[in-house]
Amino acid sequence: MATMSMLRSYPLCHPYPLSKPYSRIPLSRSLSVVSSKMEGSEITEQNQVKKKIFVAGATGSTGKRIVEQLLARGFEVKAGVRDLDKAGTILSKDNPSLQIVKTDVTEGAEKLAETIGDDSQAVICATGFRPGWDLFAPWKVDNFGTVNLVEACRKLGVNRFILISSILVNGAAMGQILNPAYIFLNVFGLTLVAKLQAERHIRKSGINYTIIRPGGLRNEPPSGSVVMEPEDTLYQGSISRDQVAEVAVEALILPESSCKVVEIVSRDEAPKQPYKNLFASIKQT
Ligand SMILES: NC(=O)c1ccc[n+]([C@@H]2O[C@H](COP(=O)([O-])OP(=O)(O)OC[C@H]3O[C@@H](n4cnc5c(N)ncnc54)[C@H](OP(=O)(O)O)[C@@H]3O)[C@@H](O)[C@H]2O)c1
Repeated sequence: MATMSMLRSYPLCHPYPLSKPYSRIPLSRSLSVVSSKMEGSEITEQNQVKKKIFVAGATGSTGKRIVEQLLARGFEVKAGVRDLDKAGTILSKDNPSLQIVKTDVTEGAEKLAETIGDDSQAVICATGFRPGWDLFAPWKVDNFGTVNLVEACRKLGVNRFILISSILVNGAAMGQILNPAYIFLNVFGLTLVAKLQAERHIRKSGINYTIIRPGGLRNEPPSGSVVMEPEDTLYQGSISRDQVAEVAVEALILPESSCKVVEIVSRDEAPKQPYKNLFASIKQT
């Protein structure tokens, strides 16, 4: 049975800017649902009962790596995918710890809550719009889609949310408005602005979040060490998707990652540090 000390070590985040946490569901209800879902002080693969993690965007280049790494570390995974046939070619169908469910984040919080279900303890969002003719796709997927996932979590009382966002989302405030990457990504449907809006929603919600903002993503295996900086710091650099997936899984495990926005790239010359230290070096926001 969960105790108050367990709840304290896995807290709701202080909403930013100040607003009521969990304004749509009573705090008492959200806490009781959360407590009934927590057996440990943190989510860990060592617990006897396997934790089930919902991954949105599981057929994506980063999402599939997150799924693989979660399974490798003993978690159960509910993989949210738009196309079940495609998922069959990307994700291992034979793993009993993997459940694949049809999920479109634009379909609204109600539907998403049904899909996430009452057996998921945390949600990792690795979605990103697919370029096409719909100019509003970034807004629909990277803003509203993520907001829908957060609202679904609130309905269910799922109190852990990890988002794969991007460096430069707040480029305008960082004086990076003329950064070619900032211009390029916003030309396509204000992608970075959409992501920033979603981040703001998460931070206002009171949910326990870790927002991971990677630099440019590479498919190549990891090279160099992960460098982690506070929000609105990095404006260039890249990182292997394997390392991004690793950071997402570590965030799930390490309480030092709670209520934080972290920016990550990899650098050859950087010293290798334990993830616990990296997360601990970032102030809560
Ligand atoms: N590319 C970069 O250099 C870079 C840099 C920093 C941050 N990021 C961000 O990092 C994240 C991961 O990037 P990535 O390149 O690994 O992603 P990706 O390969 O483009 O995958 C995106 C995923 O989102 C899914 N998706 C799209 N629309 C959806 C919807 N309406 N409902 C549910 N799922 C939907 C896709 O499903 P389908 O497979 O069915 O299409 C796919 O699984 C993204 O948010 C991206 O913007 C990217």
